[in-house]
Amino acid sequence: SEIYLHGLGGTTPPFTTDPTRLADSAREVMTPQAYDYVAGGAGSGATMAANRAAFDRWRLVPRMLTDATRRETSATVLGAELPAPVLLAPVGVQSIVHPDAELATARAAAALGLPMILSTASSHTIEEVAAASGDGPRWFQLYWPADSDVTASLLNRAQKAGYTTLVVTLDTWTLAWRPRDLDRAYLPFLTGEGLATPLSDPAFRALLDTPPEDDLLSAVLRWVSLFTGTDHSWSQLPFLREHWDGPIVLKGIQHVDDARRAVDAGVDGIVVSNHGGRQVDGAIASLEALPPIVSAVGDRIEVLFDSGVRTGADILKALALGARAVLVGRPWVYGLGHAGEEGVRHVLRGLLADLDLSLALTGHRGIAELGPDSLRRS
Ligand code: FNR
Repeated sequence: SEIYLHGLGGTTPPFTTDPTRLADSAREVMTPQAYDYVAGGAGSGATMAANRAAFDRWRLVPRMLTDATRRETSATVLGAELPAPVLLAPVGVQSIVHPDAELATARAAAALGLPMILSTASSHTIEEVAAASGDGPRWFQLYWPADSDVTASLLNRAQKAGYTTLVVTLDTWTLAWRPRDLDRAYLPFLTGEGLATPLSDPAFRALLDTPPEDDLLSAVLRWVSLFTGTDHSWSQLPFLREHWDGPIVLKGIQHVDDARRAVDAGVDGIVVSNHGGRQVDGAIASLEALPPIVSAVGDRIEVLFDSGVRTGADILKALALGARAVLVGRPWVYGLGHAGEEGVRHVLRGLLADLDLSLALTGHRGIAELGPDSLRRS
């Protein structure tokens, strides 16, 4: 109703409210490199397409006369009380999308009370982004470096800066074949973009012969060598537990057996994710991976979901299939490209409004009512 009321005064939204047109409209304002980096996927793009197709195979079944005039969208996710079960997925190198980068995203997320999961590959340091997020919820995503001193130092800094929950991304221990970036010979990290946190880290700097200020390329290559091609195993997870006081979540789980191993390892949650189709071409759609994982471990750890969420209806479907919450990636990044902080807020507010309307019109009074009965496989 806010949008329509503004329309009476001749004001229309800053850019499209249509999730299917968001990427195309962002393309007009972003640099070609940045657009391709965000929009791209692994190999032929088959996994990205599968992520979307999987949502189409489930259909919501609306119910009538349920008195859904008031809805409860709030949710508790890993101990955090959230206004909706929606989080901003970790997205690295936001400076290539907009100069305000993670600071803009942090402000927009905080204004809505949604957790921003700060990527290890951030264009601003952990501490700067913490300051920008005010009293908003802060989660930290770790790309797990090969050096344990560096790992411990990053975790220590994140805890000191008030990040409560650790998300460890497991699916990107080396970068995939990403044709859009390869064709442009473009890897933002190589210019130092997105590496503010490691480049400012005392434990990482102690590994260098020359400070990054004097020889950026050597420092960047040293960092890349620390977090690509790593050989971590399940047996090393206790190291993270020793260095992190709050909840730990493993991101990138797709196989039921890995979900079981996560439970055995004593973590608090997992994110069923295929990195938005950016890592394994030809992989199973993330939404297809969700139901068997929920039935195997859903009563023992919290199962979060991402990859392909674009609309309120998508969120309903993921929750009905047992996800505790969803992470959203590309849509708000396109918002950032459009209009910085205001753009991120525009996309997220639209998504939350769409979620609320979808709940209402399907006859649910709250997200707790979503379940297998809410859906049919089509
Ligand atoms: C990502 N993703 C990601 N994940 C992560 O753990 N650390 C990171 O630094 C990044 N960086 C990143 C950059 C860009 C441009 C994109 C699009 C994605 C993956 C992200 O967290 C999430 O898993 C997917 O984006 C979810 O899929 P959708 O919502 O983009 O379809």
